[in-house]
Amino acid sequence: MDKMTKTARLEKTDMSHSPNSKSATELAIIILAAGKGTRMKSATPKVLHKIAGLPMISHIVKTAESLKPKKIVTVISEGMDDVAAAVAPHQTAIQKQQKGTADAMKSALSILGDFAGEILILYGDVPLVSKSTLEGLLTHHRKGKFGATVLAMAAPDPTGYGRIFQNPDGTLNRIVEEKDANDDEKIVRLVNSGLMVMEGEDLAEHLDKIKSKNSQGEFYLTDLPKILAEEKIVTGVIRGDFYELRGVNSRSQLAELEMAWQHRKRLELMDEGVTLLDPNTVYFSPDTKIGRDSVIGPGVIFGPNVNIEDNVEIRAYCHIEGAKIKSGAQIGPFARIRPDTIIDEKTRIGNFVEVKNSYIKKGAKANHLGYIGDAELGAHSNFGCGAITVNYDGKTKSKTIIGDHVMVGSNASLIAPIEIGDGAYIAAGSTLTQNVDADDLVVARGKQTNLKGKAKGRMKKE
Ligand code: UD1
Ligand code: CA
Repeated sequence: MDKMTKTARLEKTDMSHSPNSKSATELAIIILAAGKGTRMKSATPKVLHKIAGLPMISHIVKTAESLKPKKIVTVISEGMDDVAAAVAPHQTAIQKQQKGTADAMKSALSILGDFAGEILILYGDVPLVSKSTLEGLLTHHRKGKFGATVLAMAAPDPTGYGRIFQNPDGTLNRIVEEKDANDDEKIVRLVNSGLMVMEGEDLAEHLDKIKSKNSQGEFYLTDLPKILAEEKIVTGVIRGDFYELRGVNSRSQLAELEMAWQHRKRLELMDEGVTLLDPNTVYFSPDTKIGRDSVIGPGVIFGPNVNIEDNVEIRAYCHIEGAKIKSGAQIGPFARIRPDTIIDEKTRIGNFVEVKNSYIKKGAKANHLGYIGDAELGAHSNFGCGAITVNYDGKTKSKTIIGDHVMVGSNASLIAPIEIGDGAYIAAGSTLTQNVDADDLVVARGKQTNLKGKAKGRMKKE
């Protein structure tokens, strides 16, 4: 038996004897997302509202997956098919009526069955929690051998959150919901993030004991510690960062979380060696990649799937999505780069140039006011000011292939499908409908006629 297999076997044997190491591997995650999100005032389910272009629920599913649990079950309400699609292939449980977070848990158990490992509860509207915070929660839970452990946070303004009360030894005494709190309790700023881990064993019975005798007439999961305490089972508390754990109940909180997310990403990229001239004005997507010594100007927006190499300069106010931009390229200001675009080394895309589904080869330039769509622009070619590829005839999109060292004169229209050979020179203002061979000079425009003195009297004199 090789060493690896032996270790694996030993761990397996270990697990079946020690409850602690067993729970270390047996983890299920439940994401609560059945709430109507009334405070969002939206026809879209709350958890599908986006942060950094990605639905909140997808942020959570990604983090949940990173913990490699046995199962991820999302609780949704009837008709939330879009949420089910967003969490697929993970399973969903339907909560028929939104009777509170404890009731939502019961719906999840209908799918989880009598899972006896650890159950981690995440909230669909607490999207920015990090893997390391959740690992910290699990470690604290295991170390303390608690029946449940809640993730708390110190909120600058605790309004709307459940307040946390601890025993002198730091374990949980009780959670009081905002609506049930008296004035003294409301002063407390240590609040419940909603996220918690609990032991799956006997959970169904514990949940059954939760009553809805509170101001909202709901079954609160936050009453679980009280139920556990009756059986002398202790609930632990660990604190996390408010900026990561706060929830989204309204549009303004959604905007706050977007800011928090963008702030984190900006710091991360600067740490990796990217210069952001005015960080607060630049917006990223979760998958934005930017190489070292690249410089990003103010007001630049990165949509999904952008990969920028080292030493690229993106000047102010560019909008870039679905593009690969190679080393030494200079883009903008005011350029729009759309999906399926590759921009090679040392190219130059200037102001008010739009590029879509195109390959701009090494050293090529399109410096001003142009449209390059469904095209190839050959190495060291020049795409003049105001030139465009005419790629769409109302029905189909066609390709424009431009060779190396080509001059496309200003205001030329290249009606696709069309191919321009290497070294060709297209006169300004030409409208091309036919292919051009290598090294040909093309003039395709009306001839100029000057009529002597005929302009007199045509314009009003002020
Ligand atoms: C909840 C907590 C509160 C905590 C806060 C943190 C309870 C009773 N309160 O309050 O202590 O400080 O989160 O953000 O747990 N949900 C369902 N089914 C339901 C009700 C809710 O799935 O019947 C889901 C919601 O979609 C949401 C989550 O549970 O993802 C929390 O529900 P929400 O109504 O937003 O609770 P809060 O009032 O924010
Ligand atoms: Ca909430």
